[in-house]
Amino acid sequence: MAPVAASLDVRADFPLLGRGFAYLDSAATSQKPEQVIGAIDSYYRCSNANIHRGVYALAQEATDLFEGARERIAAFVGSEPATTIFTRNATEAINLVAYAWGAAHLEAGDEVLLTHMEHHSNIVPWQLLCQRQGATLRYLHVSDDGRLSLDELDEVLAGGRVKMVATAHVSNVLGTINPVAEIAARARAAGATSLIDGSQAVPQMPINVSEIGADFYVWTGHKALGPTGIGVLHGRRELLESMPPFLGGGDMIATVGFDSSTWNELPWKFEAGTSPIAEGVGLGVAIDYLAAIGMDAVRAHERDLTGYALERLAEIDILRPFGPTDLDHRGGVVSFEVEGIHPHDIAELCDREGVCIRAGHHCAQPLMREMGVPATARASFHVYNSREDVDRLVDALQKARKVFEL
Ligand SMILES: Cc1ncc(COP(=O)(O)O)c(C=O)c1O
Repeated sequence: MAPVAASLDVRADFPLLGRGFAYLDSAATSQKPEQVIGAIDSYYRCSNANIHRGVYALAQEATDLFEGARERIAAFVGSEPATTIFTRNATEAINLVAYAWGAAHLEAGDEVLLTHMEHHSNIVPWQLLCQRQGATLRYLHVSDDGRLSLDELDEVLAGGRVKMVATAHVSNVLGTINPVAEIAARARAAGATSLIDGSQAVPQMPINVSEIGADFYVWTGHKALGPTGIGVLHGRRELLESMPPFLGGGDMIATVGFDSSTWNELPWKFEAGTSPIAEGVGLGVAIDYLAAIGMDAVRAHERDLTGYALERLAEIDILRPFGPTDLDHRGGVVSFEVEGIHPHDIAELCDREGVCIRAGHHCAQPLMREMGVPATARASFHVYNSREDVDRLVDALQKARKVFEL
C-alpha cells in the first residue's frame, strides 16, 4: 500500500506532544487532540447537568450531547445506538458479558475458548466465570510468527462443548490482526457465542461490527484518542435483551418496587448509575476527529510506520522483533527484545532521549510465558507519530547498546 498517510500532519493538534516526546506508547493509551480536550472543557463550562431525568433545557442539552455521541460512535463502527452500551472501559465491557451472559448461558461441563495472545482483561473475567459455573477454559495456540490457526479452532469447536469464543481483534503485544469475522462465523456455525476484544483495533483501522458478525464486540475509549473512563460494548440485540442486567440502580431501571424491579430498555438496561457524560461527549469528538482523517488513512499511516519500524529495527543485529512479518496481518505495535539488555533498561535509556516506549508483560503474562520471555519492549503508533519518531527510537536504542557495550 502506498504510504499515503505517512504524510499525516496532525501532531500540532496534540498539545502534550509540544513537550517534545517521541510518544510511542499509544497501545497503552493515546494522546488527546485539542478538539477532545476542548469538548470536555466546554461540556463542563457550558452544558453540565445530569442526563435523562431533567425536564429543564440544560439537562436536555446534556442528554442530547451524550446520546448524540452514542449515535455517532455507533455509526462509526457500523452498529446501532440501542445496542451500543457505554461502560467504564473494555475490561468492564468484558466483565459485563462474562457476568450477565455467562450466568444465563454457561453450565458445568461447558467450555470457554480463548487464545494465548489475550490481554488479562480478556482472560480473568472468563476464569472467574468458569470457576463460578464449573465450566472449563481452553486456549488456542499462537504460532512462532504470532498467528492463530483456524484449523485448531475447528478442531476444538468440533468437540461440541464450546459455548463462548473470545479473542482479541489485534494483539497488544504481537500486533497480530486476527481473522475475527471468520472466527465469529465458525463459532456461530458450531453453536457458540463470540466476543471480540477490539481495544487495539478500533483506534487504528476501519471497523464494521455488523460485517464482523460477532455476538459481542468491545473496545475502550482512551486508546482511540478519547478520554479515560469510557468503554463500549456492542452486542447482538436478542442476546442483550435476553441477558439479565449486570449492575443495578440508576439509569438501568424502569420501575422499582420494594421487592422487585423492571429494567429499562436497551442500551440503558446495562448502564447503571450516572453515566460518564463528559467522557461520552469527549469520545464522540474523538471519533469525529478520526472519521475526519478517515480510518483508511489512519490504517495506511500505521502500516507505513510499522513497516518502517521493522525495517529500521532490523539494523540492530542483537534485536529480535515479535509478531507477524506480513504487514497485512499486523497492526501498529512492535514488541521486541534486545539480547543482553532487559526491556526495563531499554525503556529507561529511551526515556533519557525523550522516547516513550513500554516495557513489561503488557498485561499478557500467559503469552510472555509461551514466548519464553519475562517481558518485552514495545513501541506502538498513532496518527501523531512520524518516521522521525521511529528514527529517534532507533538512535536511542543504538545509544543504549553503547551503554551496555554490546
Ligand atoms: C487488547 C486489549 N484488551 C483490553 C485492554 C484493556 O483496556 P482497558 O484497560 O481500557 O479496559 C487493553 C489495554 O491495554 C488491550 O490492549
